[in-house]
Amino acid sequence: MSGDMRTEDKEAVAEGTVLVLGGSGYLGRAVSLALDAAGWDVVALSRSGTAAAGRGVRGDVTRHNLGLSGDEAAALRGSVTRIVSCFGSVDWSAGPATALDLHAAGVRTMLRFARDCPGLGGLVHVSSLLAFGRAEGVVGNRELYVGQTFRNWYEYGKYHAEALVREARDLPITTIRFGPLLGPDPSGAPLNAADGLPAVLPYLVQGYPVHLRDGGRFPSYAGDVACAAELVGRAVARPAAGATWTWYDPDLPTVSEVLHRLCRPWGVVPKIVDWPAVGRLQRLVAGRIGLPKALLDYAEPWFQIDPAVLSALPGGIPRCRPGYLDATGAALRAPDADLQGSFV
Ligand SMILES: NC(=O)c1ccc[n+]([C@@H]2O[C@H](COP(=O)([O-])OP(=O)(O)OC[C@H]3O[C@@H](n4cnc5c(N)ncnc54)[C@H](OP(=O)(O)O)[C@@H]3O)[C@@H](O)[C@H]2O)c1
Repeated sequence: MSGDMRTEDKEAVAEGTVLVLGGSGYLGRAVSLALDAAGWDVVALSRSGTAAAGRGVRGDVTRHNLGLSGDEAAALRGSVTRIVSCFGSVDWSAGPATALDLHAAGVRTMLRFARDCPGLGGLVHVSSLLAFGRAEGVVGNRELYVGQTFRNWYEYGKYHAEALVREARDLPITTIRFGPLLGPDPSGAPLNAADGLPAVLPYLVQGYPVHLRDGGRFPSYAGDVACAAELVGRAVARPAAGATWTWYDPDLPTVSEVLHRLCRPWGVVPKIVDWPAVGRLQRLVAGRIGLPKALLDYAEPWFQIDPAVLSALPGGIPRCRPGYLDATGAALRAPDADLQGSFV
């Protein structure tokens, strides 16, 4: 973890085993490393069973007992003191089966499992600001349903998962909402640019224009994955039952700034234009030119987030690793990064 991040929660003590569901993913790897460094015994569960730190276990959150055998599940239940939900897919073009099976059924399985863990002291649920879909106006930690509609099944899946977690008042759950996470992978793994804001890169670095309202000069609510992991670690160490936290880069980089920085390693200044006709044309030809259609739905500014959510974070506002956006571009330019469709 970066020494640049402000960690004020020095008194927190690691007590026992943390089960990180989705521990092999981008956020799950960072979380596993942070928890391991803080002294927790980490068990990282995913279908692949790989782990950046601690012990990797193969399982499936959509199946009974997290897909574990009866004996494995019983042993884990007996030792687990914390659970973190980092599983999921950030695929904005996922259909209802993927989004709901994974985010909703997976959360139900997790809650059932958690209720049978006698030593459980806290559960951290990772949610997304996209659960607010097309909400308008100002939103904060208290709100979840504000009459929003959703651009895609991913947004609805994250909304539904958070609603299920809110209903589980018998469990000591802290929910943390993040915007798009960027930054080099703290475990050193290559970045995957198939989803989220980086998905537009192949298109931008080839010099094609992209339409964004006001040229993308609106907040991206992006943040550094290492900071997100640090914050999850805080909630693991000091569970805040029933609380919802929200975090994004307090420097509030705009969408335009993020894209400029991501494109920099290619020596390209992205052509971001406020021309709705370009947006309409791109929608028509998206499939043929390799532009993810789901991305085009994010050309308008999001809802506003009440800035009080940042000052409400216990232990201070985590600060991103300096230069994390430029470093993301550099990591995406690396030969082992997974950019959909090859280009250079
Ligand atoms: N990345 C972001 O920008 C961002 C922002 C806000 C919130 N989030 C939330 O954070 C979570 C993780 O995101 P991420 O970026 O780390 O995604 P990711 O890199 O795609 O990781 C997803 C993880 O979930 C695991 N997984 C998928 N299906 C599973 C299943 N059926 N059973 C068990 N594990 C399963 C994957 O491992 P296997 O494929 O090996 O099973 C992987 O470990 C998601 O819930 C996402 O909504 C992410």
